[in-house]
Amino acid sequence: MTSNLTSADTTPSLISPAIHPNLIAEYPPADSPLKLGIMASGNGSNFEAVAQAIQDGQLNAQIKVLIYNNPGIKAAARAEKWGVPAVLLNHRDYKRREDLDTAIVDTLRQYEVEWVVMAGWMRLVTPVLIDAFPDRIINIHPSLLPSFKGVRAVEQALEAGVKIAGCTVHLVCLEVDSGSILMQAAVPVLPDDTLETLHARIQVQEHRIFPQAIALVGQSRKRGGERGRGRGGEVVH
Ligand code: GRF
Repeated sequence: MTSNLTSADTTPSLISPAIHPNLIAEYPPADSPLKLGIMASGNGSNFEAVAQAIQDGQLNAQIKVLIYNNPGIKAAARAEKWGVPAVLLNHRDYKRREDLDTAIVDTLRQYEVEWVVMAGWMRLVTPVLIDAFPDRIINIHPSLLPSFKGVRAVEQALEAGVKIAGCTVHLVCLEVDSGSILMQAAVPVLPDDTLETLHARIQVQEHRIFPQAIALVGQSRKRGGERGRGRGGEVVH
């Protein structure tokens, strides 16, 4: 059989990741736990859902550190309960968003974090963080994206009168709530729903799909480094 390969076909970007010389350095053995750094601004129930999934053997990962920005939040208490180091980086102590993100990146590196998981992180992020972990930052958002981006997503859904709401796990890019979608779950909106009842129904699904989506990106790593770019994204019924 003759080969139709041209010189362009042999450029580094076209070499299969499975035989790429950087593979060994970049990707640890397939069965090694994902090293997670979780960022939270409030309650931390999603942090706890991830910790529980790890304990239950549903997610092969370690939470190396929790970074939080509001003193005294419940997420920090949950980290203590689970024996996870918690680092307070109070955004009020930093003049610029970039300075906060530099401190975050330094902390994540110090704890040898591989994947960054935003679990209710309520600050806008800058290229300082995004460029330090390209395609390795995951967020959970309480709407079926691309609907209802940004703050007050559940309120937006109620105001719009939608009959189906839900949550989305996605990769983080500079534009808010706009990165590749990894997984989604839907819930009904009931006629007498309030913000609290609808958010509670959505959170049940968040706690189910967040660990699953993290496992999904872990599997993409095993497959040879697609880095969870959103290919293979899933809807969970
Ligand atoms: C969740 O609803 C998540 O979708 C949003 O912030 C909320 C965090 O909840 N990004 P918790 O702090 O994990 O309980």
